[in-house]
Amino acid sequence: MKGFTLWFTGLSGSGKTTLAREVEEALLERGMKVEVLDGDVVRTNLSKGLGFSKEDRDENIKRIGFVSHLLSRNGVVAIASAISPYEEIRRRNRDMIERYVEVYVRCSLDELKRRDVKGLYAKALAGEIKGFTGVDDPYEEPKNPEILVDSEKETEEESFQKIIRTLELMGYIPGADNSDEVSPEEEEKIKQRLHDLGYI
Ligand code: ADX
Repeated sequence: MKGFTLWFTGLSGSGKTTLAREVEEALLERGMKVEVLDGDVVRTNLSKGLGFSKEDRDENIKRIGFVSHLLSRNGVVAIASAISPYEEIRRRNRDMIERYVEVYVRCSLDELKRRDVKGLYAKALAGEIKGFTGVDDPYEEPKNPEILVDSEKETEEESFQKIIRTLELMGYIPGADNSDEVSPEEEEKIKQRLHDLGYI
């Protein structure tokens, strides 16, 4: 199989990393080579020292994009998980990376504030963290992601299956024995989206 990049974008706490890890496991089981590039982890090494200004975020996303490009062209599946709030840099990565698949993990701010797993929304709302994405810093929603998951309305399993099924239909991953996990309605929606984007 050829490599590709699965790029998760979405607000902090939306579920990007959880889904990225689940997909990683599933692809490893299917015998693929996989590398996860997670914003929180990358910021401790590759992007160490970068902060959260627009310039630093752009730099972070460019670096993750560059590594994803290197991996993808060498037969590895790169799974990136970072807020990646700016459309322009996402598009640059899309142009550079062969077989770039974007997953937008959508979730409302109300729900994220309610979850607040890391306690960061409370801090941002109290003004203790400035420039927090979605609170007082922008997030530019992807307009045409290959995969749109709604972590508020769907179960984790549904979102996961949607991602796997899309990758199968794109021909980027081999099918598994149990590749019948999405409903016929969902299958139609996925096909329609891929058709609209010119894939099938
Ligand atoms: S990105 O904007 O450059 O794509 P990235 O995904 O690497 O962000 O890092 C986001 C993580 O950093 C969040 O999940 C959160 O844990 C932490 N973080 C700290 N400060 C901020 C901030 N101002 N805005 C967003 N996330 C922040």
